[in-house]
Amino acid sequence: MSRLKKLVLATHNPDKKKEMKAAFGRQGLIVLSLDNFPEVGEIEETGATLLENSLLKARTVHRITGLPAIADDTGLEVDALDGAPGVFSARFAGENATYADNVNKLLLVMVSVAENVRTARFRTVASFVDGDRELWTEGVIEGEITREARGAGGFGFDPIFEVTQTGKTFAEMTAKEKNKISHRGLALRKMRELLTNIFKE
Ligand code: IMP
Repeated sequence: MSRLKKLVLATHNPDKKKEMKAAFGRQGLIVLSLDNFPEVGEIEETGATLLENSLLKARTVHRITGLPAIADDTGLEVDALDGAPGVFSARFAGENATYADNVNKLLLVMVSVAENVRTARFRTVASFVDGDRELWTEGVIEGEITREARGAGGFGFDPIFEVTQTGKTFAEMTAKEKNKISHRGLALRKMRELLTNIFKE
């Protein structure tokens, strides 16, 4: 089997891993994750942008495993907060914040923000690194921040992000519905198209 038939997803996050596997699972590839490479510890996200962080993660995993690697970095950009939390979304409520901490903090800081200015978007930058070959794609979805959590699916800010095109929060959708329209789904499908030829080589 050629080396290029294997792909490593550069994430320790089981929620992201599930969504990334859904995008690449049917490509005839062996999709590995960092569970297969315990030698790759936590990768510190020191970049100032989503692109820098996603490249940093994919480069690190490629360097350590010697295999083609894909990473994503995602931010929630809230217009009323001038684009925050953006690249700092995971740490919005502090260094070791849980999803619930971040959701509660966002609801709190948005308490006095009126209905018509609660617009926001999720942005994902996905990166692929294999030797000198580096590719990246972006996916964006528009929505608004609700006043309270709705739905039990998804993860992170999903229960308070209402997608404009469906009127549902991501947490009110099935995984399949979310992947079809989400920031990560869009970025990964674009990446899959770019990689189709590479994996044929
Ligand atoms: P990361 O830096 O790409 O791991 O993502 C930063 C943070 O954004 C995560 O800790 C989650 O809180 C949030 N996040 C990322 N992707 C999603 C998503 O698809 N839905 C909801 N929240 C997300």
